[in-house]
Amino acid sequence: MNNFTFYCPTKFVFGKDQEKNVGKLCAEQGATKVLIVYGGGSVVRSGLLDRVRQYIQDEGIATVDFGGAQPNPRVEHVREGIEIVKREGVDFLLAIGGGSVIDTAKGIGIGALYDGDVWDYFLRTKNPTVMMPVGAIVTIAASGSEGSSSCVLNNDALKVKSACNNDCIRPRFAIMNPELTYTLPAYQTACGVVDIMMHTHERYFTPVQDNEFTDEFCEGLLRTMIKLGPKAISDPYNYNVRAQIMWAGVMSHNNTVGVGRIQDSACHRIQVMIGAKYDSAHGAGLATICPAWMKYVYKNNMPRFIRYATKVWGVDYDPYDPEATVLEAIRRLKEFNHSLGMPVTLAELGVKDEDIDELCQLNVGHMQELGPDDIRQIYELAR
Ligand code: NZQ
Ligand code: ZN
Repeated sequence: MNNFTFYCPTKFVFGKDQEKNVGKLCAEQGATKVLIVYGGGSVVRSGLLDRVRQYIQDEGIATVDFGGAQPNPRVEHVREGIEIVKREGVDFLLAIGGGSVIDTAKGIGIGALYDGDVWDYFLRTKNPTVMMPVGAIVTIAASGSEGSSSCVLNNDALKVKSACNNDCIRPRFAIMNPELTYTLPAYQTACGVVDIMMHTHERYFTPVQDNEFTDEFCEGLLRTMIKLGPKAISDPYNYNVRAQIMWAGVMSHNNTVGVGRIQDSACHRIQVMIGAKYDSAHGAGLATICPAWMKYVYKNNMPRFIRYATKVWGVDYDPYDPEATVLEAIRRLKEFNHSLGMPVTLAELGVKDEDIDELCQLNVGHMQELGPDDIRQIYELAR
């Protein structure tokens, strides 16, 4: 096990009706004027926005609405939010939504305290060291942004998507009522399941040995998602199913399952290129890329992939043909993604042949280092 620092100060307030505490939680943080950040309208339609605004105002705290965060959130929109924060004297940011909304709030939070342009942080020429206080009311189990140290934004002008990472951008609190995810379209539920599994896959596939506890944690989390993911689609109002997936989303990406080991974000890095180019859903891209990445790297990492196949997918180990054991697990993963309604080929995802060259231009990976030629072959395997 490698040395690590794990700092996750977010207060998670989990369960039915917990959004009713949002005013008190904002007051605890010393808020006097809250910018309520939301997306394209799901929280308006569900009535959640009106309720939350009222809960905050009931505590004598002023509010300003800021809607319009898009999936694959735009830095251009974040800049607008920064202007409003400065103009209105806002001192707290509350995101109501998923990763795109929370990342918009985080982007505003770091940008409002910086004299330069917020995109500097995403060029990685500068590291954020401070963020305005951010809280979140989560409406989709997926990105884990509610507990993560990451913020991912698109830059429309540059056609680039980029992440910035620092512990200072973890939210102060996250309110997580599984009932708020009932209204999700099945496609978004599925995207979330894939993303949650991907965050764990990327921490599980590590060259670091002797991390038994964390390995078992990862395997249990993945098995739980395999069991409950399809139930969330077939039985969307099942509280306990939604609740377990929601908590798994936090565990998967607040780094509980990643400490003490080298991680490998190759699939995310590849997907980010696709997301920036086509504005497609994050989980959908991962569903297509992950099995292809596995197929490309497993031969150099057989012990880990055999363990994965047997412990996560319950494949019987064939000592005469270990590769068949691994390939069966990858087949089951792809079939699982397909059963959730996810695209599993590049064509289904909408990736065009003529764009592949451009999409290959990156160097990624720690489990196995990959350059443009390797990534081209991963795309071949994803056809
Ligand atoms: O915008 P609204 O109208 O709210 O609709 C959203 C959006 O269209 C809808 N939705 C969310 N909750 C709903 C709902 N519709 C009905 N009922 C509800 N309860 O779902 C759509 C997708 O929302 P989005 O926030 O984009 O989803 P997700 O949480 O999957 O976030 C994806 C974004 O997070 C980034 C991704 O790159 C992507 O931009 N990520 C952020 C991470 C982080 N900050 O730590 C890590 C992740 O790996 C990921 O990269
Ligand atoms: Zn993700």
